Amino acid sequence: MAVHMATGIAVPAREHDSDHQAPLQAPVETPSGCHAETVTEVEHYTDRLFRFRISRPASFRFRSGEFVMIGLPGTRPVFRAYSIASPSWDDTLEFYSIKVPAGPLTEYLQRVQPGDTIWMRRKATGTLVLDALLPGRNLWMFGTGTGIAPFASVIRDPESYEKFESLVLAHGCRLTAELAYGQQVVTATYSDPLVGDLATNRLKLIDATTRQPHARTGRLTTLLETGSLESIAGAPLDPATDRVMICGSMAMLRDMRDALESGGFTEGSNARPGTLVIEKAFVD
Ligand SMILES: Cc1cc2nc3c(=O)[nH]c(=O)nc-3n(C[C@H](O)[C@H](O)[C@H](O)COP(=O)(O)OP(=O)(O)OC[C@H]3O[C@@H](n4cnc5c(N)ncnc54)[C@H](O)[C@@H]3O)c2cc1C
Ligand SMILES: NC(=O)c1ccc[n+]([C@@H]2O[C@H](COP(=O)([O-])OP(=O)(O)OC[C@H]3O[C@@H](n4cnc5c(N)ncnc54)[C@H](OP(=O)(O)O)[C@@H]3O)[C@@H](O)[C@H]2O)c1
Repeated sequence: MAVHMATGIAVPAREHDSDHQAPLQAPVETPSGCHAETVTEVEHYTDRLFRFRISRPASFRFRSGEFVMIGLPGTRPVFRAYSIASPSWDDTLEFYSIKVPAGPLTEYLQRVQPGDTIWMRRKATGTLVLDALLPGRNLWMFGTGTGIAPFASVIRDPESYEKFESLVLAHGCRLTAELAYGQQVVTATYSDPLVGDLATNRLKLIDATTRQPHARTGRLTTLLETGSLESIAGAPLDPATDRVMICGSMAMLRDMRDALESGGFTEGSNARPGTLVIEKAFVD
């Protein structure tokens, strides 16, 4: 059993820790209200970003765009909110994750490998769902960093294409390598047997960096303010016809919400749908 330096939380030793020969994730009883699921796939993009898939319990239901609490087996496990990046129809559950140096969860989560166990609480929730938006013609999704995760779910859901004529996914990151996951998901969506035909010509990815050269540079707020996003999307952002989902840091949410509210958008919720819905990608 390893002890996390910052928190003192005991975390089971991992097979791939070179200094540990102990069996991976020594048996610990699954807490009540949790599923114990198996990691099926892991892919790393940068030293800060990776994705993984886990098995899906037969009883687990969620709406595309929702998040769930996940943790790793340990005597005092840490649970953190994670957007489910796969769509609601998928057989397995995908997550896209940051690696925070010395982060209570991700210090360990970044080392998971196929076969490892992940704990997941039973109930998914969230506001980045189609139900929280009024009917509209075009769906815009603005995500920065790992804030793209809920939209990786929404763009792979056929219901999004039933409800909207077009989907625009805008993804902003600091570095070009941080755009890879969004590009990969959108490319896979175009060739997906279930949604590929729907997404082709109706889903557009607009990605941009702020700290490295790329085809588009600048914060999403700046690209919105200057009209660049609308010009690339080929249509103005209009509260009469368009609906917006935003996911990013607290600062990004504040600035993007201010810009959209001054343009006539109003925030909605599951209880009272609106033209704009917002969710934190992490807590600063
Ligand atoms: C509704 C909701 C959904 C979330 N969905 C995801 C998701 O899909 N993928 C994901 O990686 N994280 C997501 N998070 C953040 C996640 O809950 C954890 O904060 C993250 O996994 C780091 O956990 P930690 O225990 O290692 O560090 P923490 O103690 O949780 O965080 C330490 C610090 O790291 C930074 N940080 C945390 N998360 C991020 C992030 N995602 N991007 C950039 N900086 C970050 C912040 O400065 C934070 O104060 C979500 C958070 C919320 C509230
Ligand atoms: N990405 C990295 O390489 C890196 C490396 C080490 C540590 N970190 C730390 O990790 C944390 C999160 O970094 P992150 O890059 O994942 O997320 P982030 O800081 O939220 O940045 C993601 C993208 O959002 C943009 N952004 C930030 N604030 C915004 C706002 N108010 N309005 C519109 N866009 C905004 C950023 O532009 P700007 O570049 O203009 O801010 C960047 O393009 C930070 O605390 C950071 O210090 C990041």
